[in-house]
Amino acid sequence: MIKTVQTTPYDDQKMGTAGLRRKSKIVMQPHYVENFMQSIFNTIGDLKGKTFLVGGDGRFYNDVAIQKIIKMAAANGVSKLIIGQNGFISTPAGSHVILKHKADGGFVLSASHNPGGENGDFGIKYANETGGQAPSAITDKIYQNTKNIKEYKICDVPDIDLSKLGKQELCGMEIEIIDPVSDYVNMMQEIFDFNAIKKLFANGFTMRFDAMNAVTGPYAQRIFEEILGAKKGSVVNAAPLPDFGGLHPDPNLVYAKDLVDLMFSDKAPDFGAANDGDGDRNMILGKKFFVTPSDSLAILTDNYKYIPAYKDGIYGVAKSAATSTAVGRVAKAHNIGYYEVPTGWKYFVNLMDSKRITICGEESFGTGASHIREKDGIWAVLFWLSIIAATGKSVEEITIEHWKKYGRSYYMRFDFEGISTETADKLMADLEAKLPSLNGKEINGFTVEKAAPFVYQDPVDGSSTKNGLVISFKDGSRIVYRLSGTGSSGATLRVYLEKYETEKLLEKPQGMLEDILKAAMDIAEITPRTGKQHADVIT
Ligand code: G1P
Ligand code: ZN
Repeated sequence: MIKTVQTTPYDDQKMGTAGLRRKSKIVMQPHYVENFMQSIFNTIGDLKGKTFLVGGDGRFYNDVAIQKIIKMAAANGVSKLIIGQNGFISTPAGSHVILKHKADGGFVLSASHNPGGENGDFGIKYANETGGQAPSAITDKIYQNTKNIKEYKICDVPDIDLSKLGKQELCGMEIEIIDPVSDYVNMMQEIFDFNAIKKLFANGFTMRFDAMNAVTGPYAQRIFEEILGAKKGSVVNAAPLPDFGGLHPDPNLVYAKDLVDLMFSDKAPDFGAANDGDGDRNMILGKKFFVTPSDSLAILTDNYKYIPAYKDGIYGVAKSAATSTAVGRVAKAHNIGYYEVPTGWKYFVNLMDSKRITICGEESFGTGASHIREKDGIWAVLFWLSIIAATGKSVEEITIEHWKKYGRSYYMRFDFEGISTETADKLMADLEAKLPSLNGKEINGFTVEKAAPFVYQDPVDGSSTKNGLVISFKDGSRIVYRLSGTGSSGATLRVYLEKYETEKLLEKPQGMLEDILKAAMDIAEITPRTGKQHADVIT
């Protein structure tokens, strides 16, 4: 029953910020998934006795890829697969399953917040036994393997039925199909005070949660509507669809437009939130009010005492370098550890495992904590609801009080998309070469304090990672430049801007960041090099 199939390498199977992410049509090429999976199995080595999780966000091609992975795992000697019913699992729930079952790793089929469908994107994220995505040392080895692959192993058997809960067997491998929602719900109940949130809803509190036709719909309906008592219909776009109903499942002001329109209208409920395709990103809104992810991270950290799981104290907090420095001020006030890491959740894993941090987050709508090793969209929503329930204050009041206490980091991200890889690489290389000459200079009214690449020294494994270029100014403002590592074609230049204010707290970010944006465009010569006068997406 085990077949060995001859194959030839693809040269583009390098994993980025979060796994392998490509256009669906590229992944659908013959042997593409098989080559990649065999390279992972080859890199792991002996698979006897090993257990892995498999699931996905339900996007187009999930069903086909899952069957391939199952048959290949069996042929390669994996002992057991745990699979989400009908092939569904959110990224945070997947991380939890790996930890709970002490599995050796897992495969979540998702291109996260990227659009799905035949003309959209597909992806495979590989987590190891930490429950977090495999570190670069391993993904580099896998990439080397993909470049030399000659054959793969697969069991020649019919597809298995993924709808049936319970155990079955395939080619000598055990398969356990689990309800992807219930374990996750139990974990949330252990972290948060569900009764407090129930009371909030019982007293007439209203919310809308937009699942963007992606994986979190069933989780959100179960938690917010069925258990916590939010009004029926509070969760919208709740049925996961293979093409996300044409939505771009990225919870931000641009792509979660319906939710944003509602929240900024007179019909707004008290609270609004959205999650992305695979459930690890979140956006938080109040009535006519948007909380930046950087502020959200700072506010959650500052209010940890309201959460039963954290009330006795938290270890520390971490953010990606591109995220605003707001949480740094909270860490200082609470006298807890504070770390800055490269972009990508995998860099938080060692800090969590070594108990250096409890909470962490990124500007890209990701917040989470050490209950798992991925960011967690629904966790962030429950955290906000808990703070609202405990303080009786609105999202806006909570945020403005935070700014009054700590000052405000006005913050925005500007993305220049669809640049040729060559142009983008040259822009970054030339800019890096120019950084030393900027030190001490005045640019557009800003005096440069330090201009240097961001280099991270992991305190646990000693590895060193360079990610992005940072220009810090004397007044606490910053520009961070980096290239996206999650695109499926071409390059995206991300420019992150931050300005710290203690007096003017209620201005529009665009206005506050106008001067620094001009400086950022000039320093990197963005318009002359890319032909773009403006960013394509601003978040
Ligand atoms: C983007 C975000 C990053 C996040 C990643 C996966 O990566 O910027 O914070 O961890 O998606 O969700 P990028 O495209 O910038 O490499
Ligand atoms: Zn995601």
